[in-house]
Amino acid sequence: MEDLTIRPKIKIAIFASGGGSNAEKIIQYFKEHPYIEVGIVVSNKVEAGVLKIAAANNINSLIITKSSFSKTDQVVAVLNSLSIDFVVLAGFLWLVPKHFIDAFPNKMLNIHPSLLPKYGGKGMYGHFVHEAVKTNNDNESGMTIHVVNEKFDDGNIIFQASCPLDQKMDATEIASEVLKLEHKYYPQIIEDFIKSSYDK
Ligand code: GRF
Repeated sequence: MEDLTIRPKIKIAIFASGGGSNAEKIIQYFKEHPYIEVGIVVSNKVEAGVLKIAAANNINSLIITKSSFSKTDQVVAVLNSLSIDFVVLAGFLWLVPKHFIDAFPNKMLNIHPSLLPKYGGKGMYGHFVHEAVKTNNDNESGMTIHVVNEKFDDGNIIFQASCPLDQKMDATEIASEVLKLEHKYYPQIIEDFIKSSYDK
C-alpha cells in the first residue's frame, strides 16, 4: 500500500450552494490531516454561507456560473491548475455535466438527506425531501453518500445511515436528525473513500 504521507497532500474541492454546515465539518476534519487537505470551496451563489466559512478557514473560494460549468471546461481547468484530486458535493444543487464527471472519474461524492433510492431525483432536495418523508409517515429516514454520475442522486451508493422517526416529528425535526447523521459520517466516509482509491 502506498504511503500517502510522503507525497504532496491529496486535495479536495468542496462544492456547496447553501449554508455549508457539512462543508464546515469537512474543513474542520481535514484541517490537521496528514495527507488530505481542502484545496478550494466552489459555489454558484455569491451569498452562500459556505463562502464565509471558507474565508474564516483561509480556504480560497471560486464562484461559478451555470454556463461556465455546464458548457465549458473552465471550471475543470481551474481545479486542474490547483491539482485538485477529488470533488465532494455538500448541498450543491446543479446537475453535474458529463465532461466534468469524466474529469473526475470515480472521484466525486455527493451526500443526500434520504435513504436513496427513496426521495431522490430532480426537485428532491432540502425540505422537499423531509416533507415527503413526513407525508408518507415513514418510520425511518437517513442519509446516503454516493458516487456522482450524470443523473441526480443516482450513482453507486457507498454509505447509508438511518434514524428512527417518531410520528409526532415534523419535517424540520426530521431534517435536524438527518443532518446530525450527515455531520457525523460525511468527513470520515470521504477519508475512507479517498484512502481506498489508493489501495487498489
Ligand atoms: C444537506 O442536507 C445535504 O444532504 C444536501 O444539502 C444539505 C446541505 O446542507 N445535499 P448544508 O449546506 O451542508 O448545511
